[in-house]
Amino acid sequence: MIDPSDFIKESIKEMKKTIGDKKAIIALSGGVDSSVSSVLASKAIGDNLVAVFVDHGLVREGETEYVEETFKDRLNFLSVDASEEFLERLEGVSDPEDKRKIIGEVFINVFERVAEEVGAEFLVQGTIAPDWIESQGQIKSHHNLALPHGLVLEIVEPIRELYKDEVRIIGSELGLPGEIINRQPFPGPGLAVRVVGVLSPEKINICRKANAIVEEEVIKEGLHDSLWQYFAVLTDTKVTGVKGDIRDYGYLVVLRMVESLDAMTAHVPELPWKMIKIISQRITAEIPEVTHVALSVSDKPPSTIEFA
Ligand code: XMP
Repeated sequence: MIDPSDFIKESIKEMKKTIGDKKAIIALSGGVDSSVSSVLASKAIGDNLVAVFVDHGLVREGETEYVEETFKDRLNFLSVDASEEFLERLEGVSDPEDKRKIIGEVFINVFERVAEEVGAEFLVQGTIAPDWIESQGQIKSHHNLALPHGLVLEIVEPIRELYKDEVRIIGSELGLPGEIINRQPFPGPGLAVRVVGVLSPEKINICRKANAIVEEEVIKEGLHDSLWQYFAVLTDTKVTGVKGDIRDYGYLVVLRMVESLDAMTAHVPELPWKMIKIISQRITAEIPEVTHVALSVSDKPPSTIEFA
């Protein structure tokens, strides 16, 4: 491992040289990779870096506010609420890969519009070593990205030689809050991959609330550091339940908590039963549309980590 302060100095020097006094843009999701890359680039070129948070309407509870709060005084931060555009395009779509494709396309469209408005010539990306090693080194270190409506951006990847643990060390050295540095990975398409079947604002909301309860209880139990991911999935199965004296017909939510080193494989560890019961009770009590909570016990492989 390189010395963190040497790495930071070197990276800033390099980006100053490459970008000069031109403008750059980065998609800042609030995950550790894009956060560290944003702060590094901002130290290099100041307000000529615009860090854009695109709210696709599929984010976790409080996420937009949290990312805004964390970065608005640290760098030139821009939050774009594109949720209507995303949800409109996703209407009636149930196939997981179609959902991903649409989200990717809308994201690039929104991002290209912002990049054009900003006058960006460079795109800073939070690529890390496993991202390009896994694609057999096909992503070259110096390359351009041609966006669908004609904008061409030169790619800058300040942390492309680093592994996740090293990114976290650099993040600490840069003074980023522990919550950003140690956050569980959250998929780019957000809650879309945790709502099985067709999306609707109601279903996204149920899924968001259930995920918030899981996060709260796992953190309370102190398991957030040992688990790779912990979340709730809203299935498209409705099951009979009983609320008060009345029989009810509501959603089935599945809890999924896995240990993993790199997401390539994952396993479900033994979990504290009391915590599982509390999560189940809270979800059915606090989310009236849910009547039943189940626990996923399948490893990857054969299952994937996400459900959709
Ligand atoms: P799976 O479900 O394939 O997930 O076992 C492996 C890891 O990748 C995340 N994931 C995604 N991340 N875009 C992303 O940025 C996606 O489409 C996507 N699908 C899954 C998942 O959360 C897990 O960490």
